[in-house]
Amino acid sequence: MTAPELVILRELLARPSDFVSGSALAGKLGMSRVGVWQHMRRLRAQGFGFDAVRSRGYRLARQPPGLNLLLVQAHLRPRFRRADVLCLAEVDSTNDEAERQLAAGRRAPFVVLARRQTLGRGRFGRIWHSADNGNLYASFAFRPRLEPGRMQTFTLWMGANLCELVANFCRVEPGIIWPNDLYFGDRKFGGMLTEARVDADQIRDLVFGLGLNVNSPPGSLPPPIAARATALADRIGRRLDFNRLTAAIIGRVLSAYELFVEDAHRDTFADLWNRFDLLRGRPVTLAQGGRRITGVAGGIDDEGSLLIRGANGRPQRFRAGEVTLEPG
Ligand code: BTN
Repeated sequence: MTAPELVILRELLARPSDFVSGSALAGKLGMSRVGVWQHMRRLRAQGFGFDAVRSRGYRLARQPPGLNLLLVQAHLRPRFRRADVLCLAEVDSTNDEAERQLAAGRRAPFVVLARRQTLGRGRFGRIWHSADNGNLYASFAFRPRLEPGRMQTFTLWMGANLCELVANFCRVEPGIIWPNDLYFGDRKFGGMLTEARVDADQIRDLVFGLGLNVNSPPGSLPPPIAARATALADRIGRRLDFNRLTAAIIGRVLSAYELFVEDAHRDTFADLWNRFDLLRGRPVTLAQGGRRITGVAGGIDDEGSLLIRGANGRPQRFRAGEVTLEPG
């Protein structure tokens, strides 16, 4: 059964500028108007505010700032309303928490969200700065039972989906730097970290981690990162509705995952990737261990490997590494 507070929020969020009558809410909830009033009192205690006008009803006037589980749930599209979402004030790393929950037998899929991480991590064991500053730290846990080879394009597919979602949500065009960085122009605003446990030639546990700079104020990231990073709010010049964006991301990641496991993503993958690929046709350097390869990026192949055309004109394929764009 859906919690009454959630029903009330959904009704009020659906009509942001109208009043919803107490009797309409009471009818929806199958309870008295006094019952509705008691649930609204509980919402007030959690930081929500309402305009209440006699003979007109209620309107949502204030939402608690930052990540809020009720608001995320209220914004989820009907298809994803049963999604299992865990919302934490603080955690070491949402990826680690997702792994612990999987190991403890929690039913997948589920989502772990946190306001801050104390040990947020990125690729190559780097620190992912994770203060409680209006940014998103999310991990999605799955048990795909796919053979490991199928996973090579997983993060790329997710990245392209997230770019499309951000483009639609914010009306600005982001891009991807292969394989896992989300950019606006020359500044990074998001990163993905996919981790898997393999069991008898099948992926047993899969955790897809996403860090997205959403509302962090320009000065809130430490200096070396600040020079190369940006946040969505910075790009569009206003703060975003964090919980609505988070719900949209949850819906998109869960549906992209379903398409991926059903192998139903192949028709759209190349076009989606090409739309957001920031590297194609540009001079790049790929660092792979101690090796550095320079050339012009030529997109990806069917397996998600990066193609780089060197001085001899022949494309080489690379499965892993870190790319930097060269000027020119
Ligand atoms: C990268 O760009 O190197 C990937 C960064 C991934 C960061 C996210 S934040 C949520 C999840 N939990 C983590 O510890 N890391 C990922």
